[in-house]
Amino acid sequence: MKPFVQVENISKNFYKKSEVFAALCNISFTVEKGEIFGIMGQSGAGKSTLLKCLSSLEKPTSGQIRIAGEELTTLQGQPLRLFRKRIGMIFQHFNLLSSRTVGENIAFPLQLAGVNPEEVQKKVDDLLFLVGLSHKKDAYPSLLSGGEKQRVGIARALALAPEVLFCDEATSALDPKMTKEILHLLKDLNQTLGLTIILITHQMEVIKQICNKVAVIDKGEIVEMGSVSDIFSEPKHPTTKHFLQNSVHELPSTLFKNAGPNKQFLRLYFKGDSAKEPIITQLIRSYEVSVNILLGWLDSLQDTTIGSLTVEISGDEANRKKALSFLQESGVRYEVLTHDIR
Ligand SMILES: Nc1ncnc2c1ncn2[C@@H]1O[C@H](COP(=O)(O)OP(=O)(O)OP(=O)(O)O)[C@@H](O)[C@H]1O
Ligand SMILES: [Mg+2]
Repeated sequence: MKPFVQVENISKNFYKKSEVFAALCNISFTVEKGEIFGIMGQSGAGKSTLLKCLSSLEKPTSGQIRIAGEELTTLQGQPLRLFRKRIGMIFQHFNLLSSRTVGENIAFPLQLAGVNPEEVQKKVDDLLFLVGLSHKKDAYPSLLSGGEKQRVGIARALALAPEVLFCDEATSALDPKMTKEILHLLKDLNQTLGLTIILITHQMEVIKQICNKVAVIDKGEIVEMGSVSDIFSEPKHPTTKHFLQNSVHELPSTLFKNAGPNKQFLRLYFKGDSAKEPIITQLIRSYEVSVNILLGWLDSLQDTTIGSLTVEISGDEANRKKALSFLQESGVRYEVLTHDIR
């Protein structure tokens, strides 16, 4: 079966007078039905441009996008309008109509689609219940908290029962508690409705809390992509490392001045069960090496634990070699650090 979302070699150029600006370069990825796919990147990386291409608000300069069997780049007119009803969108600043009540905001897309008034009321009530806002039906948006506004945004986005929900920085304007609540709601909707979600964010926490897969984008290109636990337990690209900088600290370069012939600096990466095993203790007990822990962190994702430990290992060469083989046999991934690696 073909993937639910298939993006192939998307590029997007913006033209300003005689200058060309490449906002997206050869972006390719797939998303399966029911997945929560995160796209993470710094400001200006091209996240919103990519999402606009996916929701057919922008036309890519080249490449193909296929969603739910439809080839987006060739859709026009009525088929395109019909297709847009099959996708829902939520935004950072909620984009609610301030002169309409919560109920009326949610009713809006249904009324535009020509749903009869009785049916509209029933659907609005169901949607309010789904997002836990039944008691706010007649309130105006200005009286709601940020989290409540986003719940209205979500209910409105779900009004026409879309197959996929696109979220553009949906929690960036919310405090950590409300962010958690909204992410919880999105995960819940993903599981109960089987809703496929593609979200873009510059917040690593968002990816960690709900995404199955992540693509890291930098200057319009995907620089790293894979399962969240793989990418975050062993980030390779500097941009991904930058996102993880609170956890993966830099080693002071002066440390390397102490590096002698019988010393090595290692960074060990842990994932899943290996994160909980006393690897270092075993290393010291079984081999004639001493291990000095320099940096470490452990973090829990939705269903697994990841972490990294930066250590200085000393001992004669033969023993260090045996110790490294032991690490390899134990399934611990590591890299030997040199002074140019931080
Ligand atoms: N319509 C446009 N015309 C010209 N340049 C544009 C246009 N839209 C976006 N860009 C440029 O493309 C680049 C990517 O913009 P985009 O809005 O996709 O970034 P982003 O990753 O969403 O950033 P942010 O996190 O700040 O929202 C930026 O350099 C932006 O200035
Ligand atoms: Mg943006």
